[in-house]
Amino acid sequence: MKIAPTAAVHGHIGVPGDKSLSHRAVLLGAISDGETRISGFGRSDDTESTIAAIRALGIRVYEADTDTLRVFGGGLRGLVAPKKPIDCGNAGTLMRLLPGILAGQQGRFELTGDDSLSSRPMERIAEPLRQMGASIETDDGHAPIVIEGGSLNPICYELPVASAQVKSAVLLAGLYAEGGETTVEEPLPTRDHTENMLAQAGVPVRRKPKSVSVQPVKRFDLGDVEIPGDFSSAAPFLVAATLLAGSDLTVHGVNLNPRRTGLLDVLERMGANVTVFNRRRIGGEPAGDLDVRSAELVATTIGAGEVPLLVDELPLFALLAVHAHGDSVLRGAAELRAKETDRIEAVVDGLRRLGAHIRATPDGFTVRGVPSRLRGGSVDARGDHRIAMLGAVAGLVSREGVEVEGAEVAAVSFPGFFDLLDSLRAPTS
Ligand code: S3P
Repeated sequence: MKIAPTAAVHGHIGVPGDKSLSHRAVLLGAISDGETRISGFGRSDDTESTIAAIRALGIRVYEADTDTLRVFGGGLRGLVAPKKPIDCGNAGTLMRLLPGILAGQQGRFELTGDDSLSSRPMERIAEPLRQMGASIETDDGHAPIVIEGGSLNPICYELPVASAQVKSAVLLAGLYAEGGETTVEEPLPTRDHTENMLAQAGVPVRRKPKSVSVQPVKRFDLGDVEIPGDFSSAAPFLVAATLLAGSDLTVHGVNLNPRRTGLLDVLERMGANVTVFNRRRIGGEPAGDLDVRSAELVATTIGAGEVPLLVDELPLFALLAVHAHGDSVLRGAAELRAKETDRIEAVVDGLRRLGAHIRATPDGFTVRGVPSRLRGGSVDARGDHRIAMLGAVAGLVSREGVEVEGAEVAAVSFPGFFDLLDSLRAPTS
């Protein structure tokens, strides 16, 4: 897909429902008592994998509308082991959270994924679940994962990596761990959607600054879940509007959970012009509207402590840094190498080919910013939706445009992404 440059972006948009929340609403809906009505559900290849997975586990899902689902939960232990493996597609959140639930069911479950997902580390969830008494095997640390459900015991687990997916797997298993509280200690705060949603469903959740605990339960009722727009899907648009002089863009109804919006702090430090207004709560999460106008940027440094708060937006940070005055640095982000692709490699290699001065380090990158448009060229998405979207925004803000190879992978999180981007071009361009 060839993305032509544009002068500016203008308009009012909404983005699909938050992917992290959409996965969690369906997974928790499946083990809730009775019906869960989900509105604002974010349709994407990843979340379709979650719907298919819980259907394979015997749960009925009625699709009332594109973004409205009704999940007829089977109760805490109501999932039925399918004869065939459950295909998680490209969805890391599904493959890492579902085992926490399956460990508490009866039967044998096998989870498979596509090539990208099958190359990602899975021992990080298998290890704590084994400590809880689960029988769980990986293929040399990777999918397929085989789980034999049974009884679980509570643990106190210190996360070796800052990962919301690992935290969530342990907390979900904690629902089944009779005899006490299951605690996850996290070195750095990561997204807290699982604990928020569990608390909303009436599960006893205890939060401390560096840990979160859940009590085992016999049942819970999730009820209705309303999902705000995905900040990570809004991010490419925030970056485009910031970089293109004369832009004015409003994104409505976005999740503004502070554990997701690290990019807003980074944008502010860099001198961007983003205003948050109409703050409200949508489905138990902070949300609001964002108005973005273009701005001249200055370089900044991001360190390990900030990384989990914008982990999926770090590729876009590189593009901001490329256009800022001065040298920017990202450190403490080795986790990027374990995403859908090695995102340090993909970002550095991709942006360099477009004319950027960027260099990889073991745990991040350094960028020499030049506040003028990138030349352009081609970017290989490498099967990674975030890299496809990075290439597209780079195309808009470049001089010659960018050919995004494998652009269709954007549908993993955002099926309508390219059409929406195209609809914002200033008429004069
Ligand atoms: C996610 C957590 C993050 C993030 C991913 C979604 C979640 O992964 O990168 O896109 O929904 O919990 P890690 O937990 O591996 O950091």
